[in-house]
Amino acid sequence: MYPLRRNRRLRTNESIRSLVRETIINPNDFIVPLFVVDGKGVKEEIASMPNYYRLSLDMLQKEAKELWKLGLKSVLLFVKVDDKLKDNSGKEALNPDGLMQRAIKTVKNAVPEMIVMTDVAMDPYSSFGHDGIVSEGKILNDDTNAVLAEMSLSHAKAGADVVAPSDMMDGRIFEIRTLLEDEGFCNTAIMSYSAKYASAFYGPFRDALDSAPVDKKDIPKDKKTYQMDYANREEAIRETLMDIDEGADIVMVKPGLCYLDIVREIKDTVNVPVAVYQVSGEYAMIKAAAEKGWLDHDAVMLEQITAIKRAGASLIASYFAKDVVKLIN
Ligand code: PBG
Repeated sequence: MYPLRRNRRLRTNESIRSLVRETIINPNDFIVPLFVVDGKGVKEEIASMPNYYRLSLDMLQKEAKELWKLGLKSVLLFVKVDDKLKDNSGKEALNPDGLMQRAIKTVKNAVPEMIVMTDVAMDPYSSFGHDGIVSEGKILNDDTNAVLAEMSLSHAKAGADVVAPSDMMDGRIFEIRTLLEDEGFCNTAIMSYSAKYASAFYGPFRDALDSAPVDKKDIPKDKKTYQMDYANREEAIRETLMDIDEGADIVMVKPGLCYLDIVREIKDTVNVPVAVYQVSGEYAMIKAAAEKGWLDHDAVMLEQITAIKRAGASLIASYFAKDVVKLIN
């Protein structure tokens, strides 16, 4: 009697495979990142992100409605800020009539039930392309936190449901939570980029927002003094537990595919939802290989998204969200 167990029995055909499948992707898994620009009727393709666009507010409104029809229930807003409005203080980020604040209202007006998440970070507003105030070649931690808290409050006032600080300063979740509570925004959630690595996969995103660190004397050329060293695992747990203590409702690991060991470990350690950001470089790689005919776009896309969820993601921020949902619907 050999063998008693034949694992292939449950792989015989698609029907049986689907009955025993452990990880199923559905529209509720996704957060849709959106890039917003000023102007009218603007839908500009991002060179290093084929089929992904910068949208003006009128186009954003259309997009939000379309996403909602597809069953996608959350967006994560990023803004591309005019160079003239950039400085070293993040002043424009606090403008109640700024692009982000108008974008939040636009989505909420178009689809009131849509969960609006906002990027809280200084880099799109920074003349140096950094996520903090720069002084004497250093990124100031505590002064930056004060701006991030005010920025979060400003987004909450404009109607954001979730603020998502993506900077990696120490203690910013506490500062943000405290100010939101003090100002009566006790229901505004915080999704913290808790384990965000200093990654080369962010390149296309920085093209999209024109937000890369500038190449100037005495300005750090990278973000390695605040984003995490990709060689580290224990530090990711420490960062994440601290953010939860400070009041984060959702924690995040970023990027996705290269960091699934971290995702699983965090998922097994914490009891809050874990989000994963499949970043711009991961998107660009699949697009480029598919364009060359070297990889099957849809198959690789679905395999990667499923792997991210299997690793423990409750939520996935992905530029493929719409493509995946169209494919599985
Ligand atoms: C910056 C920010 C980045 C991303 C999200 N927020 C880039 C960076 O840290 O330089 C990257 C997202 C992506 O690559 O898709 N606050």
